[in-house]
Order: sequence, then structure tokens, then C-alpha cells
Amino acid sequence: MESETSVTPEASPRGDASGVTSSSGSLPSELTAQRVTDALRAVPYPGLTRDLVSFGMVDHVSVCDGRVKVRLALISHDASIPSRLESSITNVLRPLGATTVAVEIVPPSAAPQPPRRGTSDPWAEQVHLACARHVIAVGAGKGGVGKSTVAVNLALALARDGLRTALLDADIYGPSLPILLGIEDGAARVRMSPDKHIVPLEAHGLPIISFGFFLGEGSPAVWRGPMVSKAVKQFARGVAWPDLDVLVVDLPPGTGDVPLSLAQAVVLSGAIVVTQPSRVSAAEARKAAQMFRSLDVALLGVVENMCGAFGRGAGRTVAAEFAMPFLGEIQFDQAVIADGDAGIPTIVARPDSAAGVAFARVAREVAAALGWRHVAAAEVP
Ligand SMILES: Nc1ncnc2c1ncn2[C@@H]1O[C@H](COP(=O)(O)OP(=O)(O)O)[C@@H](O)[C@H]1O
Ligand SMILES: [Mg+2]
Repeated sequence: MESETSVTPEASPRGDASGVTSSSGSLPSELTAQRVTDALRAVPYPGLTRDLVSFGMVDHVSVCDGRVKVRLALISHDASIPSRLESSITNVLRPLGATTVAVEIVPPSAAPQPPRRGTSDPWAEQVHLACARHVIAVGAGKGGVGKSTVAVNLALALARDGLRTALLDADIYGPSLPILLGIEDGAARVRMSPDKHIVPLEAHGLPIISFGFFLGEGSPAVWRGPMVSKAVKQFARGVAWPDLDVLVVDLPPGTGDVPLSLAQAVVLSGAIVVTQPSRVSAAEARKAAQMFRSLDVALLGVVENMCGAFGRGAGRTVAAEFAMPFLGEIQFDQAVIADGDAGIPTIVARPDSAAGVAFARVAREVAAALGWRHVAAAEVP
């Protein structure tokens, strides 16, 4: 007996379940297109935490006597993505009884059915932020590695070197730039312009906006993906920045919805990955690097923070593995904590300390990676 089922999630106006077609009645344990689609909800896009179904990438599924065909609509310049998807999809479908699994990848525009009203290619709205020559993201695999501290000192060091720089705190789950920059009263001071744009505040001469200014009592920890996506997009595009050479964006740690939404909202010149020296930290940094690669965001390099006390080496290892620059190391320094707590970043409070000089060196490397080769080169030893 041959039974064939197929499902086209995108084409079904009434949701996935109603999109199933079946040429014969199916037993509960039988592999159907619906069961395949449900199983694909557990398959994340390589490097991300979001699954293929919620991402809208599953274009069509058909099953015939255990032989499964999955058509995915996506674009990636990473040549390893198709084979990685095929193996992760095969891994979830084999235990369900799939005998063969064929994964076909088509570009989103080539999908045969017209797009459903209200759903569109999430990348279609990506814009070049007109006011900024470069938007760079600072990410990390896990929290507490000093990502925000690096972002703040990096931005201030770039500004000190003469680049028009600003900071966007997009760590919606743990915005910390108001503390690190000494502007904890920002929520009370921030204003909208007449044309409904957020007017940045200033801290240590740097224009800055933090998601924390707008959170109120709400906690994005419970937000669902689409809410995060909408908020990040509005936030990324809705600030009345002055003309900038570089906008530095502090991301939340990990590989969740925020980096994805940011990359879909604005064109990023590149990303920096911050890691601690340990091997555990390196493993997390790899995930972050892989995520940026999956999102087609250039890897500007790795910074190793808190060297010394926790060992040394993770940054260089990960940089070599991903063929990206090693941007430098910042030693562990108790005074960096005190600087952060006081709201006066190390590059301002103690520019001549070892950590201050190290932050300045990292900034030079980042500026060079973005194409500035001669920024105040004489100043730093
Ligand atoms: N090089 C360093 N030496 C000592 N403490 C540091 C260093 N870098 C960051 N810290 C401290 O580590 C803590 C976490 O830093 P933070 O930048 O908030 O991390 P993340 O943004 O990755 O969660 C803060 O108290 C900060 O002052
Ligand atoms: Mg942080």
C-alpha cells in the first residue's frame, strides 16, 4: 500500500494542519507530512536558536512510504549550510521512520506559490542605515565575559581617535550600558523628536541609546520571537543619530532572536566576538561566530577579555579556526570592575593603564578592519 502526504506550510491560509494532504488514511505512528513538519520545529537553522518552521523556511514537505522530501526556501552564502541542514534534518526524521530524506533548497523568490498576505521575506526590509557608514555588532556566546565593557571602551576609543562614533545598547535582556556609562537616569531624560525618532543621550561625549531606557516594567525575557524582532527593528532604525562613522551595537549574549533581527533590519559591516580565555568560553564563542557567519555578517575578529586570571588563548584559537583576525587581549584587572561600577569607562578613567592601552589597541585593529589605516597611529605605543 502506498500512502502519500504532503504539506505546504506557507501556502496554507488556515495553518499547518489544514495544509496536509493525504492520499490515504494514516495510522497514528505512520510518518506523515504533518509529523515531519512538527519534527522540523525542533531543527534550528545552523548557528541560530530559531527553528526552520517558525523562521518560515519550510516551503514544502512530502512523504511517500517513508521517503521524505523537504523543500526549504532560503539564501545563504555559506556553502556548508545545505549539507548541515540535510544532516540535522535526517537526524530527526530517521527515528520517526524515514527511510530516505531529500532536502532541496530553493531561493525564497522562486517559491511556486504567491506569498501569503502579511508574511514576507524577513530580509526584504533590510536597510542601509543612512546616517552611519558602518554598523558593527559586538556579540558573545555567553553573558558575563565583558562584552558590554569591551563595546563601551571600544566606542570611546574609536571616538578618541577621531571617528564619529555612537553606541546602541541592544541587549534587551540585560541592558548594562546605562550603568557602565553613568547614565542610569536615562529613562527619565530620553525624548522623541517631532518626527517620532528617539533622540540619543550623550555620555562621555558619545551619543548613546539603550533599550533599557524603554523597558519600564515590561520584561522582554518573556517576549516571543516576533515581538523581539519588531522591537529590535524599530529600535535599530528609529534613532535620530547624528552623522556617524561607526555605530557600535552591544548585543545580548547567545544566538537568539536579537542578532537575527538586527541583521535583518540593518546592513552590518561586521561583528566582533568577545570571549574569555577558557576552553568553555571558546566553545560558546564558536557558536556566536558561526551564527554571524550563518547570517552573512563579516567577522571582524575576536577579543579575548579577562586574560591572566582565567588563563589565555581561547581568542587566538577561535580566530584561527574561523580565519578571522585576533583583535587583541584585555587582561583581568580589578580596577576595570570599579571603573564600570563608577560609570567611568577605563579608557576615560585610566587611559594609560595596561587595560586602557589594550582597549585602544583593539579599537585600532577594528578601525583598520573597517578600512581606516591611519587613525591617530602615532598615539598608542
Ligand atoms: N578586563 C576585565 N577585568 C576585570 N573585570 C572585567 C573586565 N572586563 C569586564 N569586567 C567586569 O565583568 C563584569 C561583566 O562585564 P560586562 O561587560 O557587563 O559583561 P557582559 O556584557 O558580557 O555580560 C563587569 O563587572 C565588568 O566590570
Ligand atoms: Mg552586557
